[in-house]
Amino acid sequence: MTDTTLEAFARGLPKAELHMHIEGSLEPELMFALAERNGITLPYKSVEEIRAAYAFSNLQDFLDIYYQGAGVLITRADFRDLALAYFERLAADGGVHAEIFFDPQTHTERGVAFETVIDGLLDGMAQAEERLGVTSKLILCFLRHLSEESAFETLEQARPHLAKIAGVGLDSSEVGHPPAKFARVFKAARDLGLKIVAHAGEEGPPEYVWEAIDLVGVDRIDHGNRALEDEALTQRLVKDGTTLTVCPLSNLKLCVVPDLTAHPMRRMLDLGLKATVNSDDPAYFGGYLLDNYLETAKAVDLTRDDLVVLARNSFEGSFLDEAEKARRLAQVDAYAAGS
Ligand code: HPA
Ligand code: ZN
Repeated sequence: MTDTTLEAFARGLPKAELHMHIEGSLEPELMFALAERNGITLPYKSVEEIRAAYAFSNLQDFLDIYYQGAGVLITRADFRDLALAYFERLAADGGVHAEIFFDPQTHTERGVAFETVIDGLLDGMAQAEERLGVTSKLILCFLRHLSEESAFETLEQARPHLAKIAGVGLDSSEVGHPPAKFARVFKAARDLGLKIVAHAGEEGPPEYVWEAIDLVGVDRIDHGNRALEDEALTQRLVKDGTTLTVCPLSNLKLCVVPDLTAHPMRRMLDLGLKATVNSDDPAYFGGYLLDNYLETAKAVDLTRDDLVVLARNSFEGSFLDEAEKARRLAQVDAYAAGS
């Protein structure tokens, strides 16, 4: 199959995105526009200068710039515009559903109210559904470099909004901040009826993935690349059918893999892991959902059938209800049969 045929096929394939930090979809152009709207001076003179700063050696390099960029988000309209811009890109890529992360502590620590953040994102999500037909859910992430106490405070702030939050996750600097640090707050979130996900095995060791599944009882693992270093762990993830939300271009930009041909996606699929493709922080890592599908396909020889498996995994691993999952899976199958 030629590249253009595969591209057309991948674009039309109905897909869900399960690992995308909304603050990581802030494009430099919007960053400048919001800085101007809010009277904030950025330490960059141009969009080009911002893009040139996006060269990272590891996760922390990226996080330092990412938290700085989020500083232009102040009002409810800012969060709405951020979300809408992402959903437009997703729809153009053939994405039909997204479960987006947001980091309330990044904003509440700067004096932006929890309500401002969540209300703005929900505005954007509602408009995206109305205008683009894209459905979405919200996942609140705790910043793991902060304390358990701060995570509990954030969960408390979320309480009035629980009907609008699908789950909680764990992001930011992984090494030194294992899932066990947040076992109690995750238990409290679970008792409130929330789903649980956690970044594990991006830079952290396989032990963090074990903790996430055995101690925290996660519903999905975000990344999970380093699980492959541990055969017993790999077998356990296969046996449990645990969804991994893998982010190939992020792995490349954060030097988790030296180049995309070394990406473990081919191996993950061959092992029977429930891997999915996602963009993580698309404005910073050089590609949205479709770019991640296509560049990975090219680098590790994914076929059309592999892309169908990945799209199916994205709906099976989603937090949609069973009827909605079945509807989306039938759409994938009908598309695959008809193309
Ligand atoms: N890893 C951990 N934390 C993050 C990331 C990531 O890729 N993106 C935004 N916060
Ligand atoms: Zn992430």
